[in-house]
Amino acid sequence: MRIGMLTGGGDCPGLNAVIRAAVTRGIQAYGHEFVGFRDGWKGPLEGLTRPLGLEDVSGILAQGGTILGSSRTNPYSVDGGLDRIRTNIQDAGIDALIAIGGEDTLGVAKKLTDDGLGVVGVPKTIDNDLSATDYTFGFDTAVMIATESIDRVRTTAQSHHRALVVEVMGRHAGWIALHAGMAGGANVILVPEREFDIEQVAAWAQTCFDRGVAPIVVASEGALPIGGAESLKTGELDAFGHIRLGGIADWVAGEIETRTGIETRSVILGHLQRGGTPTAYDRVLSTRFGLHAADAVNDGDFGKMVALHGTDIVRVSLAEAVGTLKTVPPERMTEAEVFFG
Ligand code: F6P
Repeated sequence: MRIGMLTGGGDCPGLNAVIRAAVTRGIQAYGHEFVGFRDGWKGPLEGLTRPLGLEDVSGILAQGGTILGSSRTNPYSVDGGLDRIRTNIQDAGIDALIAIGGEDTLGVAKKLTDDGLGVVGVPKTIDNDLSATDYTFGFDTAVMIATESIDRVRTTAQSHHRALVVEVMGRHAGWIALHAGMAGGANVILVPEREFDIEQVAAWAQTCFDRGVAPIVVASEGALPIGGAESLKTGELDAFGHIRLGGIADWVAGEIETRTGIETRSVILGHLQRGGTPTAYDRVLSTRFGLHAADAVNDGDFGKMVALHGTDIVRVSLAEAVGTLKTVPPERMTEAEVFFG
């Protein structure tokens, strides 16, 4: 078999570990050949390929980013996109595809499967918001980076008797904020799943300050105040209709300062959370996903995504994976709230 592989959407620590594992397994166990498609779905759409043999994946386990490149190209928003992909895949002699991505990339993978192409998906996103898998790879690394950042801002906030608001990624799901906030002992955690009362946030900051602790607020980029709107970086939409968020931390910091008089600063972690080397947990998860994706392709088990259930890697349907976003349930916020204020 000749297998095409691509990485789509926002990059994520662990992508190279998946590529390395799938290629190694596919070649060594089954004698398959691999071709890399460049820059997400742009690769198959425009016929952009690169070699992907054992020598190409040697030494990339711990490397951040993706050797294949990535983009947010949506072939279904391009005229004749499906036909162009069919032609390019045929011309490259490809029998099946492994698509490594989040809800957008895997949403395209599902449609292509419905349109008769053989695709297996691998769940990637630092946001951990894909359904049908307990965890996506990249999330642990993002949480580790955000937690370390919270630890660091805490000492400077404490020295200056300030409040600090830390903004983390997460458009519609607050998993990074929840986990990093809990791990970092945040005094308030704001997630997109639950609108927040800015008066209450300021009151928690004040309570904290009054007992001599510098208040640390962790906010998802998609968090929004009751009756308010998301904080936008730009008004532009990407090819999948997503708007660029950013700036909620600045707004919350200003409101805390105005309402309490506590000097307040904000930090937006942004792409720091996506860059660099994956944690040991993400390296292992990515490697296992890659191995199992190669097995699924070899079995001709298309329209599936490899997923983590407990400690097992299983196969679920792509439809199940991209049907609804996995968001933070209210009971997880109830646990976190014990430490607010
Ligand atoms: O990939 C998911 C994500 O990291 C989101 O958390 C974030 O909103 C978005 O990507 C940022 O995208 P970009 O890198 O295109 O600005």
